Amino acid sequence: MSDSDFLDAHNARHVWHPMAHPREMEQSPPRIIARGEGVHVEDHRGHRVIDAVGGLWNVNLGYSSEPVKRAIAEQLETLPYASAFRGTTNAPLIELSETLTHWLEPEGMRRFAFTAGGSDSVEVSLRLARQYWKVVGQKDRTKFLAFRKGYHGTHFGAASVNGNDRFRRPYEPLLPGCFHVPFPWTYRNPFGESDPQRLATLCLNLLDEEIRFQGADTIAAFVFEPVLGAGGVFVPPEGFLRDVVALCRRHGILTIADEVITGFGRTGEWFGSRLMGVRPDLMCFAKAITSAYFPFGAVGIGERVEQAFMQADGSGGIYSGYTYSGHPVGCAAALAALAETRRLDLAPRAARVGAVLKAGLESLAASCPSIGEVRGTGLMLAMECVADRDTKAPVDAAFMTRLLDGTYEAGALIRTSGNVAILSPPLIIDEADAMRIVGALEAGFAKARAA
Ligand SMILES: Cc1ncc(COP(=O)(O)O)c(C=O)c1O
Repeated sequence: MSDSDFLDAHNARHVWHPMAHPREMEQSPPRIIARGEGVHVEDHRGHRVIDAVGGLWNVNLGYSSEPVKRAIAEQLETLPYASAFRGTTNAPLIELSETLTHWLEPEGMRRFAFTAGGSDSVEVSLRLARQYWKVVGQKDRTKFLAFRKGYHGTHFGAASVNGNDRFRRPYEPLLPGCFHVPFPWTYRNPFGESDPQRLATLCLNLLDEEIRFQGADTIAAFVFEPVLGAGGVFVPPEGFLRDVVALCRRHGILTIADEVITGFGRTGEWFGSRLMGVRPDLMCFAKAITSAYFPFGAVGIGERVEQAFMQADGSGGIYSGYTYSGHPVGCAAALAALAETRRLDLAPRAARVGAVLKAGLESLAASCPSIGEVRGTGLMLAMECVADRDTKAPVDAAFMTRLLDGTYEAGALIRTSGNVAILSPPLIIDEADAMRIVGALEAGFAKARAA
């Protein structure tokens, strides 16, 4: 049996893949990605496509970043591991934490806790938020608020603030004291409101009402993605997040920006919070921080939280952390990835190429009635696929499978979630790549609609 035949024979036979039904994976096995180069991936049968998913919103530098690979290899030679628990540290960890204070100076992030991924970062931020209130003597402040449709990962903490039932129901009961408020999405909302500013005001009022209903003095933090990602890519209306953060601040509530996707350039600005003009108290990072070359994450800690802990007695001890917090290889990967991200000036590039890609999708939508809405910013974009534009009825799962397959055959790997096609390519793609993705999608929609 050749290697490829072996892989086909065993594909999804012994693995339970995340975010999929195991039987469905056996019946319709996942693509076996064998190589990556630049912005392309190639499957084990040699079919090469543009990776329009960018791994999972994270391979921002593409697959061939020599400086990152070299930094990882060198760090493995020098010191493959050192604990960051009390008593020891390591050089890349010290350097990375200092570097991040410069990246996040406008947001006022002064300290960093390190993790091994996005769910970890959200978990740590929730823990620190609760501990903050104990440190400052308001022990009733334990609850969390979040947006419906938000995605924050799969730890019990993260799942509890997730705003999509798919990630919640199978694992309930979740963390008590987590409450969700609607996000202003003009295309579909229970108010029948299509004006973004009027909808934003309605949602803000509902948030205010929820805070008063719960009792502001019981709420620890509001956690939000500056641009919602995995839930389907939703950009808040102008000024909305500023109003949300100001409202929380008036009620004393901490704000946590989950920048796991939006951090380091994907939105077209360096950080989603900066794009939205907000300065949160805590910020969660992962994905692009190492451009996916090493599983890694971080939590940024702003002055209010920092000072409370620094001035506290024993209650300010951080009894939260992982064996791999501050992993030297991860820190070395992050240092190299961030230096490359800066050198290539990827945020403005994401804005520029993202605008080309979005315009391409909009012109595709003009001739393709299955596209109900194109949305997003920078290089996080989505298309809402509908069977009927007037009723906005979603297409069925078979349509999305044909779209995925047809687009792949035509040269681009995309991601689908329900009736939404999601695009999050590496930030190094150029305008020509963007138009190739549009071309592949055109073929994909043709195939999807032909059945
Ligand atoms: C905004 C956001 N937060 C948290 C997570 C969880 O990250 P991870 O899958 O690395 O645990 C994700 C993952 O996609 C995410 O998009």
